[in-house]
Amino acid sequence: MGVTLEFLEQQFYNFFKTEPDVIVKAPGRVNIIGEHTDYNHGYVLPMALEQCTYIVGKKRNDSLLNFYALNTNRQSIADLHYPSRNPIEPWMDYIMGVTHELTKLGYSLLGANGIIFGDVPMACGLSSSASLEMAVLKLFEALYDFTIDDAESAKLGQRVENEFLGLKSGIMDQFISRCGKKGHALFLDCRTLNYELIPIVLHNHSFVIANTNCPRGLTGSKYNDRVAECNEALNTLISFFKKPATHLRDFTLDELLQTKSIMNPIPFRRAYHVLSENNRVLSCIEGLKNGDIQKVGNLLNESDLSLQRDYEVTNNELEIITDIARNIRGCKGARMTGAGFGGCTINLVETTYIEDFVNTLIEKYKNKTGRNASFIISHPSEGAKIVKSLYKPLLTK
Ligand code: GLA
Repeated sequence: MGVTLEFLEQQFYNFFKTEPDVIVKAPGRVNIIGEHTDYNHGYVLPMALEQCTYIVGKKRNDSLLNFYALNTNRQSIADLHYPSRNPIEPWMDYIMGVTHELTKLGYSLLGANGIIFGDVPMACGLSSSASLEMAVLKLFEALYDFTIDDAESAKLGQRVENEFLGLKSGIMDQFISRCGKKGHALFLDCRTLNYELIPIVLHNHSFVIANTNCPRGLTGSKYNDRVAECNEALNTLISFFKKPATHLRDFTLDELLQTKSIMNPIPFRRAYHVLSENNRVLSCIEGLKNGDIQKVGNLLNESDLSLQRDYEVTNNELEIITDIARNIRGCKGARMTGAGFGGCTINLVETTYIEDFVNTLIEKYKNKTGRNASFIISHPSEGAKIVKSLYKPLLTK
């Protein structure tokens, strides 16, 4: 994690001049496959990363939220009784968003002091925001001694995004950040929220995450555009088949194809991606279970092509880096991961060739784009948890 828990505790002490009560953490995630399917009630297959957001915190006896973000050296203080967005310190919105949702659920909270530190790279498709939301929720659960069910926790995080921040995102990021399991990816049905843990056994291969280090631009508005385009496709399907439906998940690829001549081409392509991606998730799980690594790699490539051509959420840098990656020895497949429009890719690479893969990718990507790629190799990890409780036990007679 780059720093130790003792260091974080010390930072808390230096800043607030008192001992903290707890340390919590929640991981970022990488999505193996199943992109832009969650808000259509489809399938996803993410895994939690070793990289996390940590919060060292302590209760307050008033309603203030006093937080210090160590990565950026910024402090922000707000009153949880007056929930509002903070355009100057936007990271504070995630904290306020979570306490606001808890208040709406009927928890009468007091405030907290906290030091936040994260090693999830920010704004590049690895869910640093969801990890902050899930860490804040775990902090309040730990400080004020209540527990929220895992699925409800993920839904709460999603409401922070949808209602407080106005981003119409799905449930994948919060769900995996809360429920991730060591050694496993999580196959989530975003309709029922039932999930299956899929062991990640890659037979001398590894997932290598490559960061294009390219700023993502207007991700929020482009993301919401995609959600709207999916809804347009859904409405056409509903009126064509006259069947009650709420999400693209209610239709098959075959049904979609029957509407090709009457649906606008853009919503058609968006829906084609979503419904074909759901099938790819199922095939990928089959490939993983059977140890068929080449099949998994091929599916990553197919997913990427669909995201490029039909869903149109890649950009130049993503297209260049995946194209280079696929041509390096030992790479079985590569795709963009997360919302897209910049950010990271996930690559399935023969473990013996990782060093060569990374060096070649750095060099060729730099030549073509002038940018420096960076890399993360992470084992699948645990979801949000209390790392350390520093309450002094009360002496009882
Ligand atoms: C973002 C959203 C998720 C999901 C992905 C794309 O990470 O937060 O809900 O839609 O994009 O798969």
